[in-house]
Amino acid sequence: MSETILDVQHLTHQFRLTKHTTIRAVDDVSFQLQRGEIFGLVGESGSGKSTVARCIMNLYRPAGGRIFYRGVNVCDPKQYRMHKNMLQTTRQMIFQDSTSSLNQRMTVADIIMEPMAINHIAPPGGSLRAEAERQLHDVGMDASYLNKYPPELSGGMRQRVAIARALSMEPDFIVADEPIASLDVSIQAQIINLFKHLQAEHGFTFLFIAHDLAVVKYLCDRVGVMCHGKLVEIAPAAELFAHPAHPYTKLLLSAVPIPDPRLERARVLQTFDPSDLQDTGEMREICRDHFARMPVEGVPH
Ligand SMILES: Nc1ncnc2c1ncn2[C@@H]1O[C@H](COP(=O)(O)OP(=O)(O)OP(=O)(O)O)[C@@H](O)[C@H]1O
Ligand SMILES: [Mg+2]
Repeated sequence: MSETILDVQHLTHQFRLTKHTTIRAVDDVSFQLQRGEIFGLVGESGSGKSTVARCIMNLYRPAGGRIFYRGVNVCDPKQYRMHKNMLQTTRQMIFQDSTSSLNQRMTVADIIMEPMAINHIAPPGGSLRAEAERQLHDVGMDASYLNKYPPELSGGMRQRVAIARALSMEPDFIVADEPIASLDVSIQAQIINLFKHLQAEHGFTFLFIAHDLAVVKYLCDRVGVMCHGKLVEIAPAAELFAHPAHPYTKLLLSAVPIPDPRLERARVLQTFDPSDLQDTGEMREICRDHFARMPVEGVPH
């Protein structure tokens, strides 16, 4: 039996640019995540993906709509306060840029231990430091990194530390906003395989935001497509890539390069008129309860 862990209902958010101008970054977005699934959120730059993620994680207060996480309306200040500890420990976020998300003046050990210390979590590994070492090992790094500082690490290593820090809380739900976008291509593959392996091992629900559709196809069970602040299509990954329903999804897929020069030259780029958004009416959601998962491949350690 699947269990809805996150229920986003008619989420709307706008930013005030000037006294008289606001921008509607997210416009009536609704979707649910089932416990243990990997959900990809895609869409062009500025389509509202990060704003959705930030509303879900209480970094922005939404202008409208409701967000239920494990039955708690996180947008309601009273409910948020009542469940603050649960919300702060069981939900974790990983950002694109680990240079700014990790404190550059703290050692790797302190970075990983900090959330456990703040939330008074008794470390399963005995001491906080032993637990930090275990978490570091789980993301493919040995104890020699414990005393290093983020500027001494490569981008991929820093992102591994950010993942270890998030996992130290044994979260039920992780949001990763373009976590591989600033890494080299070869490192991107390692981090994606690490996510896949860790998710299979820990079973957390994973909201993964990305530009790279090939990565989303490889990693995600279901995919939501955003365009101009709206969620225009949700489908199991295999279904979305085989039979995209919305014109904007077709456009996105048609822009993915084909690794065969002959086919690539012959490719016809789709076009999409944003006014189509008005004509499509309801968002298309395809067979929500059915998703196929690809087997976990090579662990990157
Ligand atoms: N803090 C902000 N102040 C004003 N406008 C903002 C702010 N953050 C986002 N926006 C605007 O809201 C819209 C949605 O932005 P958002 O960052 O959510 O998009 P995105 O899909 O995450 O884009 P990207 O793929 O580039 O990260 C964009 O038009 C953006 O310019
Ligand atoms: Mg973004």
